[in-house]
Amino acid sequence: MALGDRHVECPHANARRDPAFGVYVHWPFCRSKCPYCDFNSHVRHGGTDQGRFVRAFTAEIAATASRIPGRTVSTIFFGGGTPSLMEPATVAAILDAVANNWRVADDVEVTLEANPTSVEAERFAGYRAAGVNRVSLGVQALDDAALSALGRTHTAREALDAVAIARRIFERYSFDLIYARPGQTQAAWRAELASAISEAAEHLSLYQLTIEPETPFAALHASGKLAIPDADQARILYDVTQEVCAAAGLPAYEISNHARPGAECRHNLVYWRCHEYAGIGPGAHGRLEIEGTRRATATEKQPEAWLGLVESHGHGLVTDELLSRVEVADEYLLMGLRLTEGIDLNRFETLAGGPLATEQIAHLARHGLIETTAGGRLRVTPAGFPVLDAVVGDLAA
Ligand SMILES: C[S@@+](CC[C@H](N)C(=O)[O-])C[C@H]1O[C@@H](n2cnc3c(N)ncnc32)[C@H](O)[C@@H]1O
Ligand code: SF4
Repeated sequence: MALGDRHVECPHANARRDPAFGVYVHWPFCRSKCPYCDFNSHVRHGGTDQGRFVRAFTAEIAATASRIPGRTVSTIFFGGGTPSLMEPATVAAILDAVANNWRVADDVEVTLEANPTSVEAERFAGYRAAGVNRVSLGVQALDDAALSALGRTHTAREALDAVAIARRIFERYSFDLIYARPGQTQAAWRAELASAISEAAEHLSLYQLTIEPETPFAALHASGKLAIPDADQARILYDVTQEVCAAAGLPAYEISNHARPGAECRHNLVYWRCHEYAGIGPGAHGRLEIEGTRRATATEKQPEAWLGLVESHGHGLVTDELLSRVEVADEYLLMGLRLTEGIDLNRFETLAGGPLATEQIAHLARHGLIETTAGGRLRVTPAGFPVLDAVVGDLAA
């Protein structure tokens, strides 16, 4: 990215009055690769040397902390891939490394993503002992035929058993479902969602199936062998999702995330509110605030290449860019409007160095897609969320 004279020191997003700071740790391995997924996840039949990864994670945490010392960590998130393939001792060692380099808040949220198989559920008590206090389970569907079509290696029963174990062991848990699946009817989704809600405590992530380029699903879709709901059908399923979840006390707080008020995933809020976060591990992204500027970082994606970089350089960074004022403000718009709370127009103006286009706001508001609040926030309306990308595109233009 050419910064040139477009870059000016900008009042960074994470002003010290709001100290949310998150640490993301990426575990890039899965037992098998799901045909719809384009996450940075790899299968290693020969196993992984977890001790070597611990040393590398520890080194990268120390290298990051030397750039942004003195922070208080409010959230930690083990994402993947499948972090529930990590040994509890691996998780404990990484949490120790975080605590050895930064202060950790007393009420820190520590989430670990888990696949809901019985083998992984057996490790939950170990994660709890290591310091994890929230799990997010990839249930995906509560129907065995749908699970098999998604290439999942667990049954609905096994997933619900894992949810029950999570409920017993952790203070907080959430699970993910994928909807708008091939052949899914409105009635079937209503019933599945109702049973998911009866199993959920405080939080659900509900994602519409996306055909990601270069996945097996993309090839099947392109050859006509995989038909997914069209835009109108998907819209109906989206509307059902909003209606059923809101009626059950789990309204959307973000386009795909639902929670009882106060039970939102605090780590993901760090991203959507554009606060500061460190990205640790292969293919992890970070946003660091250094000397009044905001930097975008990314590490090498390929796990063994990342290990090699960390072992030779002390970190696996391949991108470390100063963001311009316009980029920081655009990111705030793009991320913040995913949240039902929207964005603070004053903060946008401070970041951008000027107000958001008033004509565009008026135009989209006339169409009922956005609204401004008495408190000076701009937010997307329920009618605007299904066309969020277009709304953001219009505002950012
Ligand atoms: C990193 S994965 C979650 C953890 C774990 N690996 C698992 O699959 O159980 C994050 C979530 O993204 C969602 N996801 C991944 N690919 C998707 C796609 N193509 N369309 C919709 N949701 C997707 C799934 O719900 C998945 O649980
Ligand atoms: S959905 Fe989860 S288990 Fe499946 S490949 Fe992606 S990260 Fe791995």
